[in-house]
Amino acid sequence: MHDATHAAPWTTTQGAANDKPAFYRDLAEELDALLQGETDPTANAANAAAAIYHSLPDLNWAGFYFLRGDELVLGPFQGRPACVRIPIGRGVCGAAAQSRRSILVPDVEAFPGHIACDSASRSELVIPLLANERLIGVLDLDSPMLARFDAADQAGCEALAAIVVRHIG
Ligand code: SME
Repeated sequence: MHDATHAAPWTTTQGAANDKPAFYRDLAEELDALLQGETDPTANAANAAAAIYHSLPDLNWAGFYFLRGDELVLGPFQGRPACVRIPIGRGVCGAAAQSRRSILVPDVEAFPGHIACDSASRSELVIPLLANERLIGVLDLDSPMLARFDAADQAGCEALAAIVVRHIG
């Protein structure tokens, strides 16, 4: 019989809002299990984008940009087609890549240089992907809601990004 309490988060519609740390702990475990045993970076990034997109409520885009030379190039994602190349330092993704720090943007219209790929996006969270000290790309999450992401989302998504790095790095 189907047991919702043990289902992977992306197979349920249960909310993430009540206890975000617990939600992200469960999702991290499921993501690790999903990527375990596969070494192909494209396959693992694609499954990670799908798992994140379908687990976190109120997203309109979730996916990866990877560092290629001195720019970020679009990787696996879920959502509308997006801009393919982002120079380091440009937009939220380029700023996170440059600073190697997560950037939480409650209102994209208030972020100078924000790159609007999907006009529905209102808030954004970008996490750099670091393999030891090496920048390999960013995880980008967009929401149609203003201030969708808080510090708990940032901490939870940083943990998810670390798992992805282990499976694609
Ligand atoms: N908004 C991002 C660009 C990527 S899309 O949102 C998918 C930015 O400003 O870097």
